[in-house]
Amino acid sequence: MGTISRDKKYFIKTWGCQMNVHDSEKIAGVLSLLGYNAVDNEKEADLIIFNTCCVREHAEVKVYGNLGRLRKLKEQKDDLILAVCGCMTQQKEVAQHIAKRYPFVDIVFGTNQVHKLAELIANAKLTGETIVDIEEDEEGKIIEGVPVSRGDGIKAWVAIMHGCNNFCSYCIVPYVRGRERSRKKEHILDEIERLAQEGYKEVTLLGQNVNSYGKGLEEEISFASLLREVDKVRGIERIRFMTSHPKDLSDDLIYAIRDCSNVCEHIHLPFQAGSNNVLRRMNRKYTKERYIELIERIKENIPGISITTDIIVGFPGESEEDFLHTLDVVEKVRFDSAFTFLYSKRRGTPAERMEDQVPQEVKHERLKRLLDLTERITAENNSALRGKTVEVLVEGVSKTHPNRLTGRTRTNKIVHFEGDTGLTGKLVNVRITDPQSWSLFGEVTDEKAES
Ligand code: 5AD
Ligand code: SF4
Repeated sequence: MGTISRDKKYFIKTWGCQMNVHDSEKIAGVLSLLGYNAVDNEKEADLIIFNTCCVREHAEVKVYGNLGRLRKLKEQKDDLILAVCGCMTQQKEVAQHIAKRYPFVDIVFGTNQVHKLAELIANAKLTGETIVDIEEDEEGKIIEGVPVSRGDGIKAWVAIMHGCNNFCSYCIVPYVRGRERSRKKEHILDEIERLAQEGYKEVTLLGQNVNSYGKGLEEEISFASLLREVDKVRGIERIRFMTSHPKDLSDDLIYAIRDCSNVCEHIHLPFQAGSNNVLRRMNRKYTKERYIELIERIKENIPGISITTDIIVGFPGESEEDFLHTLDVVEKVRFDSAFTFLYSKRRGTPAERMEDQVPQEVKHERLKRLLDLTERITAENNSALRGKTVEVLVEGVSKTHPNRLTGRTRTNKIVHFEGDTGLTGKLVNVRITDPQSWSLFGEVTDEKAES
């Protein structure tokens, strides 16, 4: 039957954020339909795909390093197909650069061509030339129905919107991911209902800025009301979402998190910088005072909520005084964890052209001070959990501690504990005996969870 051979192998390497990880699950879904099986070793693969990120320069440098390495593999195996896709290639000049400087790459595609993969592979084989396809057929159109091949059967990513309209002045995402567009509520709920039927216990709703979900849809719907609907899906026990932009986090959303029993007590709310001057030049559209006030409102309404954030150090023009405001926000909010980044110049963004770029050594020195503070606070917050009982969704055997199981609290903290592997996919109560900075250690208990 047909000409699809069933023994082709692919290897996919993914850089970047959860949306990219989820895109790779779609690529895997399409390849599975085409008769490809996943392998962990690129040397065994007939098709190698790099799904790239460009949010910081470091991410791009790593991709180029890896591409250079593939030249040899390609020389050894002529029918090997190499494809590079994702945010990096969505920039026209980068796609052209790859085609020119790395001519052994067969396919360069963007973030919206996953459904055309069969055609791209066929074309590359037929022509023997580098196929570049990064333009959308219909700009902004969301392609529904692309098969998704997900990992563990317990937790699933669900994209609810694509793109970003915020144009923070340092960020390249709006240029590569395009304008904001939301998926229809029915499509999202159908997908989540199917996941529940397949036994998934947790969904994370993904978008660059989930708080503006619904804009532009025919149906009038906010992110808060979407959450309330998702909360009704039977079988899904935990709902998470990311990322939220502080400028449009509504009281309605705070109440929805409070009211919906399956929505977890965790919010990732990047503040990026503490100084109002820097925030204005970043085009973030809130002030330090408003951010802190918003956090207070969230904490008042949702007791025990954990708050995580992203912070950039060394944005152009950031003075020592500006930076002290960043430290001050961290002290006041006491984040459960913080992702900290050195500012990285991105081509085509307004910040690229700003004067007063901060010298590298100053950036590093500030980053170190910031890390010392965030790590101390994370450790202090965790140590307050000693002796407490928490609800853990068991994900399986711990990779770092193979004689233990691992899972996460509702507040998204990693917990390791001894137990039977049969607990995988179940919610268990664990009493924390040894809280550490990066994870918590504990033991299964009959006691009721406090959070
Ligand atoms: N330099 C450093 N960090 C950046 N981020 C986005 N763009 C840049 C940049 N040019 C960070 C922001 C964002 C996270 C995903 O990446 O903190 O929230
Ligand atoms: Fe980038 Fe700002 Fe959009 Fe986030 S909200 S993706 S930081 S432009």
